[in-house]
Amino acid sequence: ARRSALRRRLLAWWDAGHRELPWRFPTGEADPYRVWISEVMLQQTQVAAVVPYYLRFLERFPTLEALAEASEDEVLARWSGLGYYARGRRLRAAAREMLARHGGVPRSREALAALPGFGPYTAGAVASIAFGLEEPCVDGNVARVLARLGCVEGAPEAPATRARLWALAAELVRGPRPGELNQALMDLGATVCGKAAPRCARCPVAPCCAARARGRERELPPARAR
Ligand code: ADE
Repeated sequence: ARRSALRRRLLAWWDAGHRELPWRFPTGEADPYRVWISEVMLQQTQVAAVVPYYLRFLERFPTLEALAEASEDEVLARWSGLGYYARGRRLRAAAREMLARHGGVPRSREALAALPGFGPYTAGAVASIAFGLEEPCVDGNVARVLARLGCVEGAPEAPATRARLWALAAELVRGPRPGELNQALMDLGATVCGKAAPRCARCPVAPCCAARARGRERELPPARAR
């Protein structure tokens, strides 16, 4: 019951005005190729910096076929500025493998996770956002939101904590509109549930937040030890 209240609040907040970004599409109209490209770019770079790169990349490689057929040099040239050449290289390799083996972006977490450059985050993000599958994806922002909602102690990068956060995300995403739910968690982390100073007065799920109920929202998740 608590979980469905949480879902309802997150989706209502999303519907009330999410950020308009060039890779976001109305429900059911997502382009899996675009979702994939945006998620890879967003793993290493902030949203505001990604937008112009994304638009230029899509102009040159508008489809999976265009990316698969391009030379590696050209893909890397268009990728430069985003850093991590290895990522650009794996991007092209994954495009070729998708076409060769699946005829397009594959529609399951397992098939996605087997592709070059795909980790659990990218597989879950594409599966949920592009295909509406009930798959979790936990990046740094989502980990912070979930650590607070569930009052999860422990450093988020510790394997035991990571496992708990992924389990929480998996429970939460089991329901309607999983792609939008995941993106609502991302946006909440980026705009409301900030690292140093969570803006709980503006948070749609503050009433469901276990850390807040205990006055611990500023202490969780614990900062990385150095
Ligand atoms: N960070 C990673 N993926 C994102 C997305 N789809 N929207 C906003 N921020 C993100």
